Amino acid sequence: MVMRAIPPELKRLAVIGYAPVVAAFTFVEDSKTKESIILSAVVSFVGLLLTKALIPVLQPVHLRRNLFGYDINKKGTPGGEKKVPESLGLAPGVVFLVCIILFQLLQYYDVPSVVHWLQTLGKKGALKQQPIGDAWLVDYNAALATICFMLFLGFADDVLDIPWRVKLLLPALASLPLVTAYGGGTGISVPLPLRSLGLPPYLELGLIYKLYMVMLVIFCTNAINILAGVNGLEAGQTFVIACAVAFHNIWELAGPAGAPGSATRDGHLFSLYLMLPLAATTLGLLLFNWFPSQVFVGDTYTYFAGMTIAVAGILGHLSETLLLFLIPQVLNFAYSLPQLFKIVPCPRHRLPRFDPATGLLYATPNWNLVNLTLHVFGPCTEERLCLRLLAFQIICCVFGLGMRWALTGIYK
Ligand code: UD1
Ligand code: MG
Repeated sequence: MVMRAIPPELKRLAVIGYAPVVAAFTFVEDSKTKESIILSAVVSFVGLLLTKALIPVLQPVHLRRNLFGYDINKKGTPGGEKKVPESLGLAPGVVFLVCIILFQLLQYYDVPSVVHWLQTLGKKGALKQQPIGDAWLVDYNAALATICFMLFLGFADDVLDIPWRVKLLLPALASLPLVTAYGGGTGISVPLPLRSLGLPPYLELGLIYKLYMVMLVIFCTNAINILAGVNGLEAGQTFVIACAVAFHNIWELAGPAGAPGSATRDGHLFSLYLMLPLAATTLGLLLFNWFPSQVFVGDTYTYFAGMTIAVAGILGHLSETLLLFLIPQVLNFAYSLPQLFKIVPCPRHRLPRFDPATGLLYATPNWNLVNLTLHVFGPCTEERLCLRLLAFQIICCVFGLGMRWALTGIYK
């Protein structure tokens, strides 16, 4: 299949996502930190190219195995009759795993020594190994196992069409490697106002914290999966969130939290190593999933993306900030609850109604943010609807960053 020209809206989204990340990077002073970020960015860029190359290869293969869907928001037009390959999230998912494994391998070595080794084609000197703490590796491998498990279960869901109630719990299963291996703190810092009420500065939660981890994982994965059904929306929201988290990580690494030896430095670096390849492989997917979609992402992608974000939040110790970035997903989840619990009837698809005569989407009585946006702003085209929802996502991320900075004082 021939690659189409990159839609201008997608180019704009890429700039809006990456510009703050690059700007924050210019403030990082520590050379070791800089080296690691550049290495992760280079590996991620390779990931973008690989995803872009892999999707056209997989498209006919998925169609051949009857993995396709119809574009519901184009029903009544030729676009609605086409078989659109489904579950192409497999491509960014697999490439992402390769990227983080490759990155882990490269992290073993001192970057200047790798450059020297490549320049002399390995003739002069051996590669210098870097001392990496075991704790780092345990966390990294647990994260890898969990994301891999989720990708597999997401693909299984696409192929087997697992019932909705069972499907809700798949992420809990996939989170087991992470929850069992997790060796970080299981307590929370209590905000200053609550301390004056007699609470200690640090509250040890023990097992309850692990339960919180599982809940966060279940929420992130399903929340992204149900804010969906409009071309480009699943991957678009993930791209914005990944860039926002990456920006937050780099910004913190540029400040006192990133000083070598600081306790928070590792968490931010860890989260960044997951977010840069996630954003890049997602952008590769968006090249094909942007309106009008040539491929659907499938639950393979939504589960994989949600899990990666949740793991970054947990191991990066930034889950409160993450929840601020996820305000659209929280609102959509809360608003969807009556339908999810069948208090209000819930059809298989909770999508808007497309009118081929006008080419516009109209709100249906389904309880989600997609229909609410159409109610509030009136009928619009599918692409405009996606852009409106992504604009809201961007506003929430900016608000989240603002709140995060405003509230830093209450933890001192
Ligand atoms: C979730 C939503 C469902 C929504 C669906 C769309 C809940 C409880 N479930 O279900 O309401 O309809 O996602 O992804 O909120 N599709 C399009 N255009 C797109 C993307 C998908 O028409 O841009 C259609 C295609 O037919 C595709 C199918 O949705 O094959 C994929 O649905 P799937 O991801 O399996 O649905 P769920 O995640 O179960
Ligand atoms: Mg889905």
